[in-house]
Amino acid sequence: MHRPIAILDSGVGGLTVAREIMRQLPKEKVMYFGDTERTPYGPRSADEVRAFTHQIVDYLLQYNPKMIVIACNTATAAALDDIRAAVDVEVVGVIEPGARSAITHTRTGMVGIIGTEGTIQSGAYKRALHALSPQIEVYSLACPAFVPLVEKGLFDSEQATEVVADTLSVMKTYPIDCLVLGCTHYPFLQPTIAKVMGPEVELINSAEETAREISTILSHKQLLAQSLEVPQHQFFCSGDPKMFRKIVQIWLHEDVQVTPVTWPVS
Ligand code: SIN
Repeated sequence: MHRPIAILDSGVGGLTVAREIMRQLPKEKVMYFGDTERTPYGPRSADEVRAFTHQIVDYLLQYNPKMIVIACNTATAAALDDIRAAVDVEVVGVIEPGARSAITHTRTGMVGIIGTEGTIQSGAYKRALHALSPQIEVYSLACPAFVPLVEKGLFDSEQATEVVADTLSVMKTYPIDCLVLGCTHYPFLQPTIAKVMGPEVELINSAEETAREISTILSHKQLLAQSLEVPQHQFFCSGDPKMFRKIVQIWLHEDVQVTPVTWPVS
């Protein structure tokens, strides 16, 4: 029960999921790995993303987590089934929860998806949405410029406003009432995306639904943490720990120690 929930992402994006897990499950210890050295995953091949995900999962397994959360849409699309087949612990991704949330919120059945090239090309969101509701109309757009902005800490900048407005000009022409933020980095840009898309389009962030799914699974398996002690979360990253730590501070309002990890690890 005192085992951590291990969360992984290509960089800082999964912190949007980590924050929601900490909010909904405050007794749980979280262990977060950001592969900031190799971010972004979006333009990489599915084989490469799968290999990176296996490598991080192998690293995190030494800490005996009770669950692994792939808090990266690109890695979920490329590696979720593989990782589930390879490990003995429960593995949760972010695409099914995102799709469920979109189905719950759409009134017109016209749903937009934005994500990395890898996620959009995989068709994983379309499949997940159609599995739930075959009539849903899906409008997809890859936004490759968004992740680098977030990883550089530029989510509040003028440059971000310009890039978001320019990239989403196509999405604005579609008759959607919901837009799924199909990359865990995008909630960092949520205020800007909301301004560009306007009040008629509801933004769907999968973090809340993912945390709810985690809570349900842990409760069902009687694995929820019971301790009254404040959990000591742990953070790891493969790139520069200074920028990573700064973004953790902004997003989680917490000053944390970050353990740098150099690939290949022994
Ligand atoms: C990326 O590393 O390109 C994005 C992560 C995600 O898809 O959530």
